[in-house]
Amino acid sequence: MPDPISFIDEQLGRFRDELYDFLRIPSVSTDHEHTASVQAAAAWLAERMEAAGLTSELIETSGHPIVVGEWRGAPGAPTVLVYGHYDVQPPDPLDEWTSPPFEPTERDGRVYARGTADDKGQLYMHVKALEAHMASTGALPVNVVFVAEGEEEIGSPNLVPFVEANRERLACDLILISDTDMFAEDLPALLFSLRGLSYFEVNVKGARSDLHSGNYGGAVANPANALASILASLHDDRGRVAIPHFYDDVVEWDAETLEQIAALPHDDEEYRADLAVPELAGERGYGTLERIWIRPTCDVNGLLSGYTGPGAKTVLPNKAMAKVSFRLVPNQDPARVSDLFRLHVAAVTPPGVTVEIKDLHGGRPWKAKLEGPAYDAAREALKEAYGTAPVPMGGGGSIPIVIDFEEQLEAPALLLGFAQPGCNLHAPNEWLRLVDIEKGIKTLALLYGKLGA
Ligand code: BES
Ligand code: MN
Ligand code: MN
Repeated sequence: MPDPISFIDEQLGRFRDELYDFLRIPSVSTDHEHTASVQAAAAWLAERMEAAGLTSELIETSGHPIVVGEWRGAPGAPTVLVYGHYDVQPPDPLDEWTSPPFEPTERDGRVYARGTADDKGQLYMHVKALEAHMASTGALPVNVVFVAEGEEEIGSPNLVPFVEANRERLACDLILISDTDMFAEDLPALLFSLRGLSYFEVNVKGARSDLHSGNYGGAVANPANALASILASLHDDRGRVAIPHFYDDVVEWDAETLEQIAALPHDDEEYRADLAVPELAGERGYGTLERIWIRPTCDVNGLLSGYTGPGAKTVLPNKAMAKVSFRLVPNQDPARVSDLFRLHVAAVTPPGVTVEIKDLHGGRPWKAKLEGPAYDAAREALKEAYGTAPVPMGGGGSIPIVIDFEEQLEAPALLLGFAQPGCNLHAPNEWLRLVDIEKGIKTLALLYGKLGA
């Protein structure tokens, strides 16, 4: 029997073909037209877990199923809870894809398709790493409970109650997640934090209907103008969020982490040029990596009002809408941010309009408990597979379930991802490097081995 690493080398072609089958299933969780495909992706994954030697169960919820895979044949060895998501973001805008989003296509050492990086490709690496152990030694080095959900991209509405109701079954020593980036090509990373999220829809209402902007303009409040002034009040001229008390709960990071961030090979000019912006922007007094990892933000994610068709229409709109979200850092709380945001909007809303605010997603930020044997094992595994020791990095995005897992299961989470920065997650032409499929599976196989030893 070969060892896990030679097994991976031998089977890599089949692994890739299987992953491409998975990627062909358009498991878009937010779109009801794709419900059958989300189900199909769950069933497909359960079957692959079985083929790898785990038992699997497809747990129906009021939304999309949770797939649980288990293997508990290593008494005395630690239990690892692996988490990932098999749902993906919608592929739009479709005409900006070079090859179809659900037809995996290899170009320049990468495979392009929706879900390659976020998160089907990375989730699948775990299945294959476990298979490599099972096939080469007939057992796994650790006990495994594998939880894959189909609702991460819509805020995990059914996973939190599932975790709360299944604490015994999900009991573990370590939570292991691959749903993030490396720092750069061939520079792997271990995450020290994730940002949280508070997401709102703001609706401003004015007169009973749209009006002629000549007949009424000047005498009746314009919701588009009002919304613009509300949105403009959210930042000060130093790039800080101008909501009173917004920064109250933000923790200052230790000097060591700040030094590690400063030591990373980041080049602002390269970053600027790649994004094709005239200059970088953000909170004064912080560098780019600090701004995207350890500082909170406020962004308008969408805007709608008035006439937006061709040419001009002299209309005074009677409504305006904005999607507004905040990225949060430890120890900000989405519920508190919601209260502060509502108070602030009420205080700055101009007369003549009414404002309604809906809470959409929310998720708490996460800070890693970085030390311990699991982290050493991950460092070594990455170093062996990539030839370079990992750097510590923050995650600008959010995976709200991480902190719920940690609290409910009283185990630490370890986040190591194999996507590259710039991999177009959530955007057209999402990709994953072929070499990261191979090295990712090898890293994880090595890591499982070390965790068991
Ligand atoms: N995998 C991402 C989160 C991520 C990406 C974290 C890169 C760190 C680095 C996840 O699938 C995601 O997209 N999360 C959403 C939040 C969710 C509640 C919709 C996000 O961050 O916008
Ligand atoms: Mn993800
Ligand atoms: Mn995502």
